[in-house]
Amino acid sequence: MVSRRELLKMGAIGGAALALPPDRALALLGPAAVEPFGVPLSVPPILKPVKTENGRDIYRITMRERVARILPGKRTPIWGFNGRFPGPTIRAKRGREVVVRQKNDLRVNTTIHLHGGHVSAENDGHPTDLIRPGDHRDYVYPNEQEAATLWYHDHTHHHTSRNVYMGLAGLYLLEDEAEAELNLPQGRYDIPLIIQNRSFKRNGSFKFRDGHNSVPGRVILVNGRPMPYMKVANRKYRFRILNASNSRGYTLGLDQGQPLVQIASDGGLLTAPYTAMTLPLWPAERAEIVIDFSMYEVGTSVVLHDVKDPLDPSRNKPVMRFDIEREEDDPSSLPAMLRPIDRLLGTTERVFQLSLDQETQRWVINGKPFSHRRIDAEPRLGDTEIWTFQNLSDKVHPMHVHLVMFQVLTRDNLPPDPSEMGWKDTVRVDPASTVRVAMKFTDYAGKYVFHCHNLAHEDHSMMAQMRVIG
Ligand code: C2O
Ligand code: CU
Ligand code: CU
Repeated sequence: MVSRRELLKMGAIGGAALALPPDRALALLGPAAVEPFGVPLSVPPILKPVKTENGRDIYRITMRERVARILPGKRTPIWGFNGRFPGPTIRAKRGREVVVRQKNDLRVNTTIHLHGGHVSAENDGHPTDLIRPGDHRDYVYPNEQEAATLWYHDHTHHHTSRNVYMGLAGLYLLEDEAEAELNLPQGRYDIPLIIQNRSFKRNGSFKFRDGHNSVPGRVILVNGRPMPYMKVANRKYRFRILNASNSRGYTLGLDQGQPLVQIASDGGLLTAPYTAMTLPLWPAERAEIVIDFSMYEVGTSVVLHDVKDPLDPSRNKPVMRFDIEREEDDPSSLPAMLRPIDRLLGTTERVFQLSLDQETQRWVINGKPFSHRRIDAEPRLGDTEIWTFQNLSDKVHPMHVHLVMFQVLTRDNLPPDPSEMGWKDTVRVDPASTVRVAMKFTDYAGKYVFHCHNLAHEDHSMMAQMRVIG
């Protein structure tokens, strides 16, 4: 809460506002008044199963409208899983099935997709497979895949952008033994950071606009808090970063010029830690990093930025701040090798051109907007395919394929960054550039979508459908 005296110091408002109670006065200031590092980071709670039955964990979630406190002194209506923004985190173990009963207490249709999940078509949350208001649905997740930071979110055709903006997104952390044996930082030293940008109206509610290109979002939120700070010990932490923003990409970097050490991407661990000054992260991408705060003096701080121009730090946008406030032992390790990844060799080739239809102003794949009645690709179970995404437009398209994890083969005919050499389910395709990926179709036949994860593009209508043939 900001006091009247602090408001005076800010000097940004006139006498009229000062006559008001501080939160009303703040409301007059609008979102420009959000100071960075004013609130502590919070971490979404881990959801407990309601029961365990025949070795499977059963969860219940209700999607409902609630008021969240995101900006100081303001109330923001959100649509959240269990009324939370972001939703609660599900922790799953490899080889142990999870069933999530999703009940829809909202006034709009929803459908819930486990992003990155290797699941059957009927449990994938197809955009037309709706949960109507008042109804519920059980989603079954087998968890027969390697440890990774997955997430669940709404996928309603034409309304994904609005529904996710309103809050329908949460994390799903899949763990396995191989990863546990590495002794990476864990427990309270393993922290998810869900980055989202939002704009607010003066009354505190989200300012959503259903545009074709992007949505408004001047304020960067981490786990639902505006540019928070986090108190840390002088030891290693693992951060699981998810870009759950609708449209915005970030280039993450630390402010004192120290590099980031990336250990995982969308589909889990890389083969080895990769060190880089900055880390690009487009919507739906995940990157996990280890920061070793032992290289800092207790009492100092490090800021995580969105780096706009590496040569001009004054253009950096703060994301959050870490305050090194105490000394602690560090029994964790950061091994030089994380896990082996065999490179895929593909046979069938498909090309997907990404463009803007000038006449309709819709985003299209191979010239066509999404239709759930049309099948755009029919891969065969057991085959490895090479898909080429060719961007003919001047906007970035983070392309996502359901069901599979893929490997990035080339970016404009060159091998990708080591950062992109692990398993991925979403890949950024830069303007006027071409990206090739390889993926193997296993276990599940049926109908799945693939699309741009800029949700404004996805809804209008850069999405297509594949039927995996058994
Ligand atoms: Cu993150 Cu088709 O979804
Ligand atoms: Cu997905
Ligand atoms: Cu796009």
